[in-house]
Amino acid sequence: MQPATERRSHGHRWMSGSEVRRAFIEFFEERGHKEIASSSLVPHNDPTVLLTTAGMQQMTPYFLGLETPPAVRMASVQKCFRTVDIDEVGDESHCTFFFMLGNFSVGDYFKSDSLRWSWEFLTEVLGLPAERLYPTVHPSDEDAYRIWKDEIGVPEERIGKLSDNWWGPVGPTGPNGPDSEIYFDLGPEAGEFGEGPGESTRFLEIWNNVFMEFFQAPDGSRTPLPKQNVDTGMGLERLTAMLQGVSSIYD
Ligand code: GLY
Repeated sequence: MQPATERRSHGHRWMSGSEVRRAFIEFFEERGHKEIASSSLVPHNDPTVLLTTAGMQQMTPYFLGLETPPAVRMASVQKCFRTVDIDEVGDESHCTFFFMLGNFSVGDYFKSDSLRWSWEFLTEVLGLPAERLYPTVHPSDEDAYRIWKDEIGVPEERIGKLSDNWWGPVGPTGPNGPDSEIYFDLGPEAGEFGEGPGESTRFLEIWNNVFMEFFQAPDGSRTPLPKQNVDTGMGLERLTAMLQGVSSIYD
């Protein structure tokens, strides 16, 4: 291992995976969130999926208004297993098993607090350079666009609109909503700028803020959930790679 003084980072300093997890949980505890343990990789109450693929899965009964959550603000580091992107596993940034850092609001805060806290955590706590962060929103989500531009102050040319910025449900039915993904610019050595975040290997998605507002029925129709909720997901391995200045999660 390199001496500490020689270790590179894209943030304030080189951080271990354990430090990143702790920093994330402490940041959200300071903002009134209750830390929730990772649920089992085999969901105990969700017949729509075989395995847990996201931190929000244990939140599903709360988002649907079927159960009362232990707190309206929660944060977790969830064990996840995904096969939907199996063809990409083995590249720089995809794996089947990983940990997902997430903060959740059950009918409490919504887009503004969630996006502002994401930005604060990335730029101020971790020290990732703001000029290398590119937020994206769903084209229909004028609120999220306005928050990035007017409340957070991201220049318009760095805010993308992507039609696939919609997350969920994890199975055929369940909560879902528009999302806002934050990408990190890995620099010209990682690829051409091209069409920008979401389209070029130069940009790595590091955090997804999902605004869980809808329930999707088996026929694909969507109806509003009882409350507006927040579900965010940030891959621990990807983020730690940023903070260790390496280009691959396998490094
Ligand atoms: N649930 C948000 C995500 O997995 O991106």
